Amino acid sequence: MTWPDGVPVLTDGRVILRAHRREDLEGVYEQCTDPETQRWTSVPVPYSRDDAAEFIAGRRDAWESGRRWSFAIETDGGSGPSRFGGSISVGSEQRGVGEIAFGAHPAVRGKGVMTTAVRLISDWAFGVADLRVIVWQATEGNAASLRVAWKAGFTIEGTTRAMPTQRGEPRDGWRGTLLASDSREPKTRWLEPVVLEDDRVRLRKLCYDDQQRFLETTNDPQTLHWLGNIGFPRDAGAFLRHHHTRGLGSATGSAVEWAIADLEDDRYLGTVNLFGFHSLDYKSAEVGYRTHPDARGRGVLKAGLRLALAHAFGSERDGGLGLERVSLGAADANSASQGVARACGFTETGRDRRCYDLPDGRVVDLIRFDLLRSEFRSP
Ligand SMILES: CC(C)(COP(=O)(O)OP(=O)(O)OC[C@H]1O[C@@H](n2cnc3c(N)ncnc32)[C@H](O)[C@@H]1OP(=O)(O)O)[C@@H](O)C(=O)NCCC(=O)NCCS
Repeated sequence: MTWPDGVPVLTDGRVILRAHRREDLEGVYEQCTDPETQRWTSVPVPYSRDDAAEFIAGRRDAWESGRRWSFAIETDGGSGPSRFGGSISVGSEQRGVGEIAFGAHPAVRGKGVMTTAVRLISDWAFGVADLRVIVWQATEGNAASLRVAWKAGFTIEGTTRAMPTQRGEPRDGWRGTLLASDSREPKTRWLEPVVLEDDRVRLRKLCYDDQQRFLETTNDPQTLHWLGNIGFPRDAGAFLRHHHTRGLGSATGSAVEWAIADLEDDRYLGTVNLFGFHSLDYKSAEVGYRTHPDARGRGVLKAGLRLALAHAFGSERDGGLGLERVSLGAADANSASQGVARACGFTETGRDRRCYDLPDGRVVDLIRFDLLRSEFRSP
């Protein structure tokens, strides 16, 4: 395939993929000097116009050698004139396996441009190259890229340790795959920690500012006594990792976590999370929680848990999760946790004998509770 004449024009009418041109230089330069591009990709830092010129010139060799099929993205940007919107490519180092890479110009982000571009290039690449799978990889924490891959139909497989490399440095990453036969639509429900409030607390996404109080909670002796073997983050590095991996639970439809925050000053008071979603049909998940030591005994967790349950049991039509059942387990003798469960209407359903390891070496029973939608009294 020759470049640029052999490069097809792919379009849905709004977004156009075509061969790069010399006139794209300024757009490539602007995109690659943008902090988000530098944070998440391997573009040279600092980035110069010479780098942009070299990138454009290098498209021919990459294309004609069959190593990487690159397209410039052109978009009308809404009502404005047509403009350079970024670059997208599929490379193939291993027979049958394509690797997708993309970056949007800051001016077009958040408008669905890249999602459309991913769908266009995927359809084309499966058609012309003998690919059985296209692989998406991103550095862990690149939530916008994750969202694009999820929206375009990739199955989000999980995390990869020490992959990909960024400017020669191994980084932990996320990986997803798309098969030719897959629809280009999301494969799972995206579980978003939407903001939920009552007159005392706000449930919201965990943020970087929560770090200190989050770590005070996970390092508190009472938390450690009951939950110390669960492996919650206990230092700044682990907190960052935890913060980054929350997005993965959302994209795979397997977990959603809220910070419980003070309604007045938004300070972190605790965590409530839903996990172990069995499947969209079964409509059951498990709940977990913990409270900052200075927020205990004031009804904070009960308020936060009730908000999360109201959302979990709410109908999908009204923005809820449509669950029929929420379960929880608390260590035998963890009376505070069991008290919260009972206060929120949970029924004790049984006991898993000697299955719960405490950090002091004892192995105790786990008391099982559940709550059905029909039993839940909304706050
Ligand atoms: C990733 C990137 C290409 C997305 O381009 P885009 O044109 O904005 O993509 P889209 O508009 O199709 O979709 C972006 C989605 O991510 C969401 N998003 C953006 N920032 C987000 C964030 N920090 N957290 C979660 N979602 C985010 C947007 O809301 C949008 O979803 P929505 O349409 O459901 O609202 C762009 O952000 C970018 O160029 N980033 C820097 C380079 C990069 O990371 N490349 C990928 C390397 S793997």
